[in-house]
Amino acid sequence: MRIIIRDTYSEGSVWAAHYIADRIREKAARTSEPFVLGLPTGSTPIATYDELARMVAAGEISFKNVISFNMDEYVGLPESHPESYHSFMFKNLFSRIDEPRENIHILNGNAPDLQAECRAYERAIEEAGGIDLFLGGIGEDGHIAFNEPFSSIYSRTRVVTLTDDTIRVNSRFFGGDESLVPRQALSVGVATVLSAKEVVILAFGPKKARAIRDAVEGGVSHTNTVSALQLHQFGTIVMDELAAGELKVNSYNYFKAVEAAENR
Ligand code: GLP
Repeated sequence: MRIIIRDTYSEGSVWAAHYIADRIREKAARTSEPFVLGLPTGSTPIATYDELARMVAAGEISFKNVISFNMDEYVGLPESHPESYHSFMFKNLFSRIDEPRENIHILNGNAPDLQAECRAYERAIEEAGGIDLFLGGIGEDGHIAFNEPFSSIYSRTRVVTLTDDTIRVNSRFFGGDESLVPRQALSVGVATVLSAKEVVILAFGPKKARAIRDAVEGGVSHTNTVSALQLHQFGTIVMDELAAGELKVNSYNYFKAVEAAENR
């Protein structure tokens, strides 16, 4: 697992945006096939999206040949609701970049047959050639997408029931009213994320520190689903000093030394 530690949220986000842009350019230089990108929601990726949008406006990168698949969506929340992940993505990224509308994929949490919707999503990812890079955030308990504790490491896209903790944490987006937070969501599975050719996870702030410590220094566990990244050949976690705050001094120093050696 590659660990990138930056001083601040903003520096970590710029690192991630430039890394994604490099991967898109690198694929474009060797093939005309589209770059397939997995995308998260949440407050974490906002600064990464800001930097990607800035790069598109400055002509430094284009999303014209990018196909994207979002990680998750609430069940039963209208797409037009300001807190739906559809609204979030159009506001924070899609309205600001040149990705063609038909290349954007987000699970439909209002589909008449939710199981069929999940199956079709996995098929669509496969038909696109698989995900080149899955970008993700984590919840305070280490969940990736909406793979709550006890999700199978082999899980695929499916209907999930949110934990009380996640409902409480996410209620901040619903005016603090937990009763307004949907109880279920559609989410790609842990194995869907791990099937990507590369996975980049973002974790910023002190509330993510314990989950990061357990995922990096503990074993693979279904109680902290980002720990499954240990099973991926090309997994990276980008964090700030605060999220790195619970790592052992020795681990922290090692990650910093690896980076320094790579940049030499
Ligand atoms: C939700 C999303 C996750 C996201 C998490 C963290 O649970 N389903 O994909 O990583 O929130 O959100 P934030 O980035 O706001 O801390």
